[in-house]
Amino acid sequence: MKHALVIGGSGMLAGAALWLAEIGYHVSIIGRDAKKMSRLTKRLPDRLSAILVDYRDDLRLKEALRRPMAIHGDFDLVVAWIHSDATDALPCVLSVLRGGTDVFHVLGSRSNSSDVRNGLTIPEDVRYHQVQLGYQVVKGQRRWLTHEEIARGVVEAIQGNKTYHAVGMIENESV
Ligand SMILES: NC(=O)c1ccc[n+]([C@@H]2O[C@H](COP(=O)([O-])OP(=O)(O)OC[C@H]3O[C@@H](n4cnc5c(N)ncnc54)[C@H](OP(=O)(O)O)[C@@H]3O)[C@@H](O)[C@H]2O)c1
Repeated sequence: MKHALVIGGSGMLAGAALWLAEIGYHVSIIGRDAKKMSRLTKRLPDRLSAILVDYRDDLRLKEALRRPMAIHGDFDLVVAWIHSDATDALPCVLSVLRGGTDVFHVLGSRSNSSDVRNGLTIPEDVRYHQVQLGYQVVKGQRRWLTHEEIARGVVEAIQGNKTYHAVGMIENESV
């Protein structure tokens, strides 16, 4: 079975984690709140498992990734929604990948996608993709994306296998 890692998957990406499980992945999900996490993992307990760790602690993060990798194998796919105060988290995850992995990095509206990409050292055999979250305009009013729209956008990015995928409208699109 293929193995996916969804960082921040117990929040707005829960729908994307469930979709990955439904299409045949074992999905390991990073978050800190055990109750919030179990509300998700109990929906498909054989396919979803929790990695309860604070991703701002890169030593603990690296350690926490070992067990799911030993049980379910190397990660074939990573979806990463990581707050900007955790600058070492994605480099730490990239460092444990064995190659052939697709990484979908979810970016907030204010991120400059080129700067983010240029700030990362992507291992040669890792395929790095970005999914940038924007906004919607409904009846002339601007609003943020719903969780469903965000999860659907991530699913579309994975299905489309694009290097850059915008969800909704983005100001000053940099790619
Ligand atoms: N452009 C847009 O439309 C846009 C863009 C971004 C955000 N938003 C909205 O803003 C809201 C708030 O964003 P949010 O980031 O709080 O989204 P969220 O996805 O609801 O929550 C963040 C996720 O990351 C995990 N997480 C956070 N910090 C962590 C840490 N240090 N270590 C490990 N896991 C961690 C959380 O789990 P734990 O809490 O259990 O750690 C949770 O799974 C979202 O609900 C979304 O609707 C909208």
